[in-house]
Amino acid sequence: MKPDSSFPRLKGLTFSIQTFGCQMNKHDSEHIAGELLACGMEQVKSIEEADVVVFITCCVRESAESRLFGHVSSIKNTALPASSPLTKRVIAIGGCIGQRDGEGLLKRLPHVDVVFGTHNIESLPALLERTLQSEDHVAQTLDASSSFPTDLPLSRESAYAAWLPITIGCDNFCTYCIVPYVRGREKSRPQEDIVAEARTLIADGVKEITLLGQNVNSYGRDLYGAPRFAEILKAVSDTGIDRLRFATSHPKDLTSEVIKLFGALPNLMPALHLPVQSGSNRILERMNRHYTKDHYLHLIDQLRTACPDIALSTDIIVGFPGETEQDFQDTYDLIERVGYSQVFTFKYSPRSGTPAASMPERVPSDVVQRRFDGLLKIVEDHAHMNNAKELDAQVQILVEGTSKKNKGVLVGKTPKNQTVHALLEPEMDIEEIRGKYLDIHITEPKTWYLFGEITSDPYE
Ligand code: SAH
Ligand code: SF4
Ligand code: F3S
Repeated sequence: MKPDSSFPRLKGLTFSIQTFGCQMNKHDSEHIAGELLACGMEQVKSIEEADVVVFITCCVRESAESRLFGHVSSIKNTALPASSPLTKRVIAIGGCIGQRDGEGLLKRLPHVDVVFGTHNIESLPALLERTLQSEDHVAQTLDASSSFPTDLPLSRESAYAAWLPITIGCDNFCTYCIVPYVRGREKSRPQEDIVAEARTLIADGVKEITLLGQNVNSYGRDLYGAPRFAEILKAVSDTGIDRLRFATSHPKDLTSEVIKLFGALPNLMPALHLPVQSGSNRILERMNRHYTKDHYLHLIDQLRTACPDIALSTDIIVGFPGETEQDFQDTYDLIERVGYSQVFTFKYSPRSGTPAASMPERVPSDVVQRRFDGLLKIVEDHAHMNNAKELDAQVQILVEGTSKKNKGVLVGKTPKNQTVHALLEPEMDIEEIRGKYLDIHITEPKTWYLFGEITSDPYE
């Protein structure tokens, strides 16, 4: 990429991006990396090696926030790299906390130099240049613009798997959730832009595309007057991408038309994350979710009819204000009936400014803990049972890399998004087979991954 000469102070500096939160943030970080590289900066992994550290933050739960503050505070004691031309490391905070707190963050964390929001990631180079020039601390957060942001430079984390945003923002205002306040109203991207980007990605060697949005099912409502998610799925599938996925789905907007595509589009992978949050109709109503337990279970039936082998996952919030033992039992019962491959469980965390934060009837923390622990076992049992069905199966994986713990173990994903481990054979170089497909014979299903043997030749 050609260095952008408008920011002379950035040229030659190193930067590290530390990303927290959801795929939206991960994708935003790819844009930020693209922008900073275009300014002639060099990307490094660790904070220690970096002249400039950019934190892309999440405030969906208290725990995500505390982790960030711990990280940012600990940087004060980390020395700059010996070769650095700076006298002090530059720290920038973006993402959802940046958007929510703006200038307030500079007061709370006085050694932070730049704060920026979710709607002005393209201003980061200018803000960094300003702080380097004047040594002043700068904060800039913008309100959401009325249209989908135009193309920004991009430096993708993976060469073969890409996120493709189709909507940004969220209109649902679930009563516990901060996202609509920090990401703005839902905006869809025109269909032709999405298809054009999918084609470019394929030409770049991408094998797997995940369509991204807080609620992809309502895609198009703002642009075309009615949701067009089924159309966009068909159009992206028609580009011939090998593997197509999407996240996240809201049950209230998941249509039969979309469900049927699971059986019909050969490249739509048989896995769906369908957050239910609670199995109690009373709590679902208080959460403003607009569906009932029965409606959700009906969707699951339809999904399994369309695609009997589909792998289902969900999110659950435990201890929402007013959750009784009976409400919790309803959730437990729903989890038991669906038999998810994976369940992400969260303890309710009050977010200031959301309606649920001012609801009375907080559930005591020991009760929340007990219910939370109660779910872990059933969640684990189902994950194990689902994986156990794969014993002796022949699966195709897209190779991602090696295990963090053991460089001799190769890691990849099946169509159902299961993680597979297999011993890397001595003649195989992981750099050469990353992003390729391999056939694996599953010999040992574990709870959270499958272990197997490679049965195809990646060099063929
Ligand atoms: N748009 C997506 C993701 C939202 S955030 C969706 O609607 O599914 C991811 C998950 O965080 C949510 O599904 C919810 O389970 C959880 N979450 C959101 N706000 C929370 C809160 N205040 N406390 C605990 N969990 C929360
Ligand atoms: Fe939050 Fe609900 Fe929107 Fe998901 S759909 S981002 S949970 S408000
Ligand atoms: Fe967190 Fe923002 Fe995503 S609050 S979950 S990073 S949209």
